[in-house]
Amino acid sequence: MKHLLKMADLSGEEIIKILDLADQMKYNLKNGIEHRILEGKSLAMIFSKSSTRTRVSFEVGIGQMGGRALFLSSNDIQLGRGESIEDTAKVLSRYVDGIMIRTFKQSDVEELAQHASIPVINGLTDHAHPCQILADFMTIREYHSTLNGQTVAFLGDGNNMCNSLIAGAVKLGMKVRVATPKGYEPCPNIISMGGNDLLLTNDPREAVSGADAVFTDVWASMGQESEAEERKAKMLPFQLNSELMSLTNPGAMVQHCLPAHKGEEITLDVFNAHADEIYDEAENRLHVQKAVMAILMG
Ligand code: CP
Ligand code: NVA
Repeated sequence: MKHLLKMADLSGEEIIKILDLADQMKYNLKNGIEHRILEGKSLAMIFSKSSTRTRVSFEVGIGQMGGRALFLSSNDIQLGRGESIEDTAKVLSRYVDGIMIRTFKQSDVEELAQHASIPVINGLTDHAHPCQILADFMTIREYHSTLNGQTVAFLGDGNNMCNSLIAGAVKLGMKVRVATPKGYEPCPNIISMGGNDLLLTNDPREAVSGADAVFTDVWASMGQESEAEERKAKMLPFQLNSELMSLTNPGAMVQHCLPAHKGEEITLDVFNAHADEIYDEAENRLHVQKAVMAILMG
């Protein structure tokens, strides 16, 4: 493993290795055990989109391991004025030990990795959000003690979260059920990866029936603000509410990467009933990304 660009690049064994190390990172932190394994190392964090969790958890995480993070808004660096991705990759590789990037096009992240001599971590693109889905798998494993054999459902927009969920889940022996409105399906490549382990439907009831964990996410992702009203109208039938939750397996979890629009993709009562799981999920970004940085940059 040289980079973390998308879940499709990882094997099931690599995912489990990250999750095992993340569990260890969490244990160490809670028990005051220091592990300054990235002492003196630097992570450049390029952001072309907003962030709360990704920015804070990477910066705090590398700090806990003895390293430091540089927050680089793409507007403030020359990349935002047209400097090439290739030159950005080659120059940053001379200064820092890793790059985390949040941007629009997945191809830009792949290009950055191709030209960098240091690890590149995808902190979200329009196509993928691997750091988040790793944290989600860590959380499901904490609550249900296993991933293999779990059935997970995703409701709403077949977006970056949905793509990453499918790509990761099928490598871990999970079944995935996705319900979207017509025209909002996940990426075709990801659908083919899903094979027989993926059920794609336009019926949210069919998707959540027998699920062990239900995922949802915003209906308009960053960059899609102008489509928000149209999407809201189409996705309302996919709102995660208590009636849909009543069709899930006993003990079913809810996962939402946040930020949430309560009252849109998830009702307030369902969010509140599952808030611990959702905040644990957010916390686990810290631990899982420390594991990723330790593996890639350590
Ligand atoms: N879930 C997530 O990536 O959150 P941020 O946009 O706040 O980083
Ligand atoms: N799908 C959302 C996730 C935010 C963390 C977006 O891309 O905006």
